[in-house]
Amino acid sequence: MRIKTDFLIIGSGIAGLSFALKAAEKGTVMLITKSNQDESNTKYAQGGIAAVWHSKDSIEQHVADTINAGAGLCDEKIVRMVVTEGTDRVKELIELGTRFDKNPNGEYDLAKEGGHSENRILHYKDVTGYEIEHALLKQIAAHKNIQVYDHYYSIDIITQHHLGEVVTSQTQGITCFGAYALNTKNGVIDTVLAKITVMATGGAGHVYATTTNPVIATGDGIAMVYRAKGHVKDMEFVQFHPTSLYNPGENPSFLITEAIRGFGGVLKTLDGREFMHKYDSRGSLAPRDIVARAIDNEMKTRGDDYVLLDCRHLDRKGFIEHFPNIYNKCMGLGIDPFVKMIPVIPAQHYLCGGIIVNEYAQSTIDNLYAIGECACTGLHGANRLASNSLLEAVVFAHRAYEHAISVLPEKKIKENIPDWNAEGTEQTEEMILITQSQKEVQQIMSNYVGIVRSELRLKRAFDRLEILFNENERLYDEKVITRKLCELRNLICIGYLVIKHAMRRKESVGLHYMVNYKKKI
Ligand code: FAD
Ligand code: SIN
Repeated sequence: MRIKTDFLIIGSGIAGLSFALKAAEKGTVMLITKSNQDESNTKYAQGGIAAVWHSKDSIEQHVADTINAGAGLCDEKIVRMVVTEGTDRVKELIELGTRFDKNPNGEYDLAKEGGHSENRILHYKDVTGYEIEHALLKQIAAHKNIQVYDHYYSIDIITQHHLGEVVTSQTQGITCFGAYALNTKNGVIDTVLAKITVMATGGAGHVYATTTNPVIATGDGIAMVYRAKGHVKDMEFVQFHPTSLYNPGENPSFLITEAIRGFGGVLKTLDGREFMHKYDSRGSLAPRDIVARAIDNEMKTRGDDYVLLDCRHLDRKGFIEHFPNIYNKCMGLGIDPFVKMIPVIPAQHYLCGGIIVNEYAQSTIDNLYAIGECACTGLHGANRLASNSLLEAVVFAHRAYEHAISVLPEKKIKENIPDWNAEGTEQTEEMILITQSQKEVQQIMSNYVGIVRSELRLKRAFDRLEILFNENERLYDEKVITRKLCELRNLICIGYLVIKHAMRRKESVGLHYMVNYKKKI
């Protein structure tokens, strides 16, 4: 099938949905997503969305906290822009039907998370992402200009490469004409031609064995853009959340929001001792990179499998009101947080790097924008400040929209694009070739490219991954395309980029900690 649209949006998380709702006022929108409509990292966001909301707080404070967490590598202009514009974007989410909790005075109940000097996190209990996702999807469903295609998997973006031209990362004027997409319900690969394409594919958590991300997070968008010779950046900065629930066998890992530490929860080792003040004066509420590294260090020196989050001293009623989802999860596992401490362990959570974009979310490929977690805007630097991600997504969705509609009138659909050619390919009979390789990628990345790295470990990871890359490329060329096969291909690409960027950075900074370039843990 050949489909034509003004805007092709790949991904139905907060970034893609926010852009779609705006763009639909100016043109036809095709929004594709590889799983159920609501399946996304967004849906699982717990803590909330950071914004300067009251007079005690200030733009300057939020800017300073973001830059401080980012270990000096943030782009200050972008940080100021996001923080300044963020409050209006959050107000729009409220206008679109998102509920955020209020206190008895009717004011928004602002929570605190690691690295924030002020209470500034708007939240809906501990299920903020679900609330936002569903408020946006309700609006999307009501919009006549938006067609949603679910279980529809984008394989690659279309550029002049598909017209037979040689394209390299140095080629000027690489242009995106849409994407090839696999309808996973019937196995047909469609050609989607668009005037403007928006990558909103989210994170890449499943490149690691342990992650808080749902299974859709396989870095597809970043890999597609990299293959199309677009530029990516900062891939070495992989954020591990300090506190996912220690529950062996559960995958993805269940998050225990940082807001619990903002509410007074304290990290302890198995013998009941606090340890965070050894590492940072902010204790359990230090920025994430510091807390995750401290936990990793305590676990390794003590030989423990996890640490504990002590909530026993907290106000029970307030806790249950604020964190009902976490409370129920713990109780379901026989952990009453007011009797027992919660066992926690770091897990991959967020990718700071991604597709390089400018302040209007334009990638280095013409007609292609990137927004949300798959983009690298310069906001996060070497370590993202908690709850700045949802904020970044809505600010850049708006900026991408403003830019895209200003250029839309001059854009045309490229008609002479060939359809997908599957000639000579055969069905994969041995799924084990894919599933086992995926596990190997995840093991390599977790063991050698985790919270603490070394040159030796990176080299070993690189060499191991190369074998998997070569095997998978053969499989990709010979077999019928499936979502699983493409996801593995993308995960290998993401692993390669993380390692390559990590090898290039000859220092320990933010989330990239190298034993060869020591600094305080
Ligand atoms: P996503 O929400 O991940 O959406 C990506 C979409 O792209 C999905 O619909 C997916 O199916 C689709 N997709 C991917 N590849 C393809 C493909 N090849 N073809 C078609 N569709 C595709 N951030 C905060 O700011 N505050 C928080 O409190 C917070 N809590 C979090 C808790 C958890 C457990 C997790 C995992 C993350 C949390 N984050 C939080 C991070 C934040 O949720 C994400 O960074 C953000 O939601 C990303 O939004 P997005 O729209 O970029 O991507
Ligand atoms: C959390 O709730 O701890 C996650 C917040 C975030 O990732 O920004």
